Amino acid sequence: MGELDGKIAVITGAGSGMAKAASEVFVREGAKVLAADVSGAQEQTAKELGDACVPFHVDVTSEDSVIAMFAAAVDAFGKVDAVLNVAGIASAAALADLTLDDYDRTLAVDLKGVMLGTKHGIRTMLQSGGGAIVNWSSIGGLNGSRMPTSAYSMAKAGVIALTKAAAVEYGEQCIRANAICPGFIETPMSGGKGAAERFPALVGGSALKRGGQPEEVAELASFLASDRSSYITGAIIPIDGGVTACLPS
Ligand SMILES: NC(=O)c1ccc[n+]([C@@H]2O[C@H](COP(=O)([O-])OP(=O)(O)OC[C@H]3O[C@@H](n4cnc5c(N)ncnc54)[C@H](O)[C@@H]3O)[C@@H](O)[C@H]2O)c1
Repeated sequence: MGELDGKIAVITGAGSGMAKAASEVFVREGAKVLAADVSGAQEQTAKELGDACVPFHVDVTSEDSVIAMFAAAVDAFGKVDAVLNVAGIASAAALADLTLDDYDRTLAVDLKGVMLGTKHGIRTMLQSGGGAIVNWSSIGGLNGSRMPTSAYSMAKAGVIALTKAAAVEYGEQCIRANAICPGFIETPMSGGKGAAERFPALVGGSALKRGGQPEEVAELASFLASDRSSYITGAIIPIDGGVTACLPS
């Protein structure tokens, strides 16, 4: 018995990093997954996971594309029970150097994309009695950073607000919405496996003194999508090795 037996999940960004790891964990736990990405790498994810995983090309910044993604999930599997809005891009400009192009590009993927996935995820899941949304924010959405990530932080803070709004507006209709805030996770976005060793300053302020692995985040997402977390909604959960718990030394 898996904790997601019988569940259908839509996962964006599923060609890489944490969303690919989540696709793997969800299939292991008994879910069927629509693995969506803009890069083309979702095809490889689906190839590795077999019949329980269907690939879909999505650009989360396009409302038509997001609508088509949920239609494809219903077409393939009959319903949607869980939505993981993971797709994101990094941005590295301090506020005084931030161009409007960088701002628009970052907000389009990291905030508008999550808003569209939440909006149409809710619409789709209401048709079958409810479900669970897990949105990817960041510890950068909780705090500023000496690494210049101003537009990224603004987008990720917006993800926290929109997740709470979704939880409150749709709780009575059996929609749960939670946001997770990863710290330094060793994915292609952050430099890949072993990246924490190359950038010790990034994890030196954590309690665990190491980078996180995408699978560790995927396990949290599986719990939040499952009925085991049935009373958790509107929660903002750091998964950061204790970075946000530490005072600077
Ligand atoms: N890696 C970290 O340390 C870290 C920390 C905190 C938060 N995050 C967030 O976690 C999420 C996953 O990051 P990751 O580290 O796994 O990154 P990743 O780069 O490995 O994967 C991100 C995926 O999103 C996809 N994507 C980008 N733009 C898209 C679009 N317009 N439409 C559809 N897909 C698109 C990419 O193609 C890629 O496959 C992101 O939202 C990121 O901001 C990452």
